[in-house]
Amino acid sequence: MEETVFGRAYSDLLEQAPRRSWQAQAGRLVVVSNRIAPIEEGQPTAGGLAAGVLDALNEKGGLWFGWSGEIAAGASTAQPEKAKGRILLRTIDLSAADYEEYYRGFANGALWPVLHYRTALARFSRDEYAGYCRVNALFAKTLLDSIAPDDVIWAHDYHLLGLAAAMREGGATNRIGIFLHTPFPAASVFMTLPPHAELARALCQFDLVGFQTETDRRAFEDYILREADGHLLPGRAIMAFGRVLRTGVYPIGVQVDEIRRQAEAPANCPQMNRLRNSIGESRLIISVDRLDYSKGLSQRFLAYERFLERQDTSRGDVTFLQIAPPSRADVDTYREIRLELEREAGRINGRFAEVDWTPLRYLNKGFARHQLMPMYALADVGLVTPMRDGMNLVAKEYVAAQDPADPGVLVLSQFAGAAAELTAALLVNPHDADDIADAIEKALAMPLRERRERHAQMMSVLRRNSLSAWRDRFLGDLSRRA
Ligand code: UDP
Ligand code: G6P
Repeated sequence: MEETVFGRAYSDLLEQAPRRSWQAQAGRLVVVSNRIAPIEEGQPTAGGLAAGVLDALNEKGGLWFGWSGEIAAGASTAQPEKAKGRILLRTIDLSAADYEEYYRGFANGALWPVLHYRTALARFSRDEYAGYCRVNALFAKTLLDSIAPDDVIWAHDYHLLGLAAAMREGGATNRIGIFLHTPFPAASVFMTLPPHAELARALCQFDLVGFQTETDRRAFEDYILREADGHLLPGRAIMAFGRVLRTGVYPIGVQVDEIRRQAEAPANCPQMNRLRNSIGESRLIISVDRLDYSKGLSQRFLAYERFLERQDTSRGDVTFLQIAPPSRADVDTYREIRLELEREAGRINGRFAEVDWTPLRYLNKGFARHQLMPMYALADVGLVTPMRDGMNLVAKEYVAAQDPADPGVLVLSQFAGAAAELTAALLVNPHDADDIADAIEKALAMPLRERRERHAQMMSVLRRNSLSAWRDRFLGDLSRRA
């Protein structure tokens, strides 16, 4: 249970911390993401990205630019800037065609499945790819109108792989970095995307490309060296397509103290009292995921069924709560997974339920973070078994929410980015129902001392690699010239 990221000690990673503080830079911080997270407290699915970005923007002030979440009646239209404290928000309403081709089409119908190794689910169309490039160019053009040359641009995620290329075409000389929240797959998988070469060339127009894990970073580097004629320079720099860029590993963290504070304050949360009363003496297993095929929900349900099959006398002692807010509901693959889960949840409950016990509580709705944290704390087991995940913040939040004196146990997929750091979790292969069922049994039977030791080990990793450390390391490296 050594704290390593694929063989490299955490202290090594953190040694690459900025030589110069990003806060000291002259220019503004400009954050660009597909979606601007709700800024008001208490909104569901704000997520760690929003918290990290908000933190950085609040500290230094700056601009956050992205899609408003609205569909315009006509053409895509940028909205006037709005101030929220020290943060300026600039949004754009997307036209129906831009939404269809860029968001629903290429980004979520082709890129997302390939980045998560699900090539069979990917659906490629040239028109949709053209729409993706068009929206990246539109974001770039809108930004160029509102930035100064010394502003530092921090782009987020797979929606914006073409942003720097489009900004450079428009003459931008700014420092521009991107952080990929998803995995980056092995070169042979990435190459199933027909425009892979163009996407790689576009990525090389950034000054810094950040990844969640060393595996992701190496996969990207491998592609660039083998397929794009790139070569390595000292200090993790790469020369490719006539430019020098850097790559780095920046595992996103969570706000540990804030989470524990929310976990300990369930009094103002009626949902919590209802949950506690209804569970009674039963042990609780909790999972929280967007309703996405990458999260391994069907495989998890089957693994829970396997676990129930093995419990002949004590079945009613355990309840599994699966919170799964619907996501991207107008993409076909997401509709299909939802139908499959409804069928499976009904079947499993039909098979095992008793008049006074529902083994699987399946909720298709989201909760605000201050409601989720006490639920994590109540649960004996956090079951986090994605087939692939860039990081999986729920895994980290579950650990941070626990009472250190009597903590629950995290069962974690070896294919979540978080597994590289949380090596003291019970790591499982999400393709193996028996492996997950074994881990649930082991977690429920684990002695207090072992639970405490594992929890303390994971907490030390979470504290060291906090959300602000993630932000400071990325922005520090971005502000250094290659
Ligand atoms: N989340 C939330 N309400 C919900 C479900 C999830 O606020 O009902 C938050 C959760 O606490 C976490 C984020 O959404 O911070 C999900 O991040 P994760 O990395 O686990 O998965 P993603 O959805 O980004 O793939
Ligand atoms: C993942 C992606 C984010 C995205 C979020 C919600 O976390 O990495 O970029 O914002 O899912 O997905 P949505 O399609 O609703 O924005």
